[in-house]
Order: sequence, then structure tokens, then C-alpha cells
Amino acid sequence: GEEPRLQAISQAIRVVPHFPKQGIMFQDITTLLLDHKAFKHAVDIFVHRYRDMDISVVAGVEARGFIFGSSIALGIDAKFVPLCKPGKLPGEVISEKYVLEYGTDCLELHVGAVQSSERVIIIDDLVATGGTLSAAIRLLELAGAEVVECACVIGLSDLKVRSKLNGKPLYILLEPR
Ligand code: PRP
Repeated sequence: GEEPRLQAISQAIRVVPHFPKQGIMFQDITTLLLDHKAFKHAVDIFVHRYRDMDISVVAGVEARGFIFGSSIALGIDAKFVPLCKPGKLPGEVISEKYVLEYGTDCLELHVGAVQSSERVIIIDDLVATGGTLSAAIRLLELAGAEVVECACVIGLSDLKVRSKLNGKPLYILLEPR
């Protein structure tokens, strides 16, 4: 079963209180990356879930979604497509804004990276409000892709988030209380 693996993953993630500001319990996945067995467990669980779902694109959200997303893409023989913060991609892009606690941010996708009707999964390290993943879904749908599911290692607020994901399923490995 998955339970011992989920426990190893959970134990390898460091929680840093009051980072980057007072009151935030920061979920630090860099310690998971130091534990290659636990890191591989995480990638393997996603690979097992998605390998036979006819997924041709894994889209990863900058920055920590790149780490998990690219590993998963290799494991399921799919291409990896980065969804980037503004100004990082050199080619022609399409972009989608989203609202943050203070102000807005934006994700960008290279035109031509995804073909219309391709089946995509979207990967990030963590979902909190779901604003980032919602923008990622809109961006890929703008490109004509079929978003099959979003997946994260850590989910911080379960029920609230699901409604914000534009009707797309959300798969989460860990839900710290
Ligand atoms: C974090 C995390 C997700 C996002 C989730 O990224 O890696 O991408 O927040 O939050 P949400 O569900 O409320 O939208 P962050 O904004 O810290 O950017 P970074 O990866 O560049 O550090």
C-alpha cells in the first residue's frame, strides 16, 4: 500500500514556522529532495497513477512544480512544459493572471508547447487557495489542451480549494492538519 510511503514523504518535509513571514508554517520540500528514497516514493506514486491515462503533457508550475513535474514526465514518457512567472520565457507566450493576497501574479506558457486536444496533468508542490492552479488550468485550456487533473504533494485547505479548480479533479498526497 501507499501508507508507509506517504509517511516517509511526510516525515521528509520540513515545516518552518514564521517563514517567509509571521504566522506562516512553511512547507519546505528541499528536505524531501535530500532524501532520495522519499523523493522517489513521491514521484513513483504519481507515475503509477498517470502512466496509463494517455497523458502526453506534464505541465509544472514555477518553481517547485518543475522539480516534481519533470521527474513525473520522464516516468510516464510525456513531455514536460514549464508554466512560468512573467518574463522568464523567451518565446511568444500566452498568459493568465491570478489574484494573490496582495496584488496579482501571472503564469505564462510558450505558444506551441502544447497542441490542441493534448491530455495534460498540472503539477505543483503545494496548493493553498488554489488560485495558482486555477490560473494554470485556464492557461492550458486557452491553449486548447484537455486538463485531466491537477496534482500536488501537499494540500493545505481541502474543501475550499476543490471548488476553485474549475471543475477539474485535484489529487493530493498529503494534507497536513
Ligand atoms: C507557492 C506554491 C504554489 C502556490 C500555491 O508558490 O509553490 O505554486 O504558492 O498557492 P495558492 O494555492 O494559494 O495559489 P509561491 O507563490 O511561493 O511561488 P514560488 O514557487 O515562486 O516560491
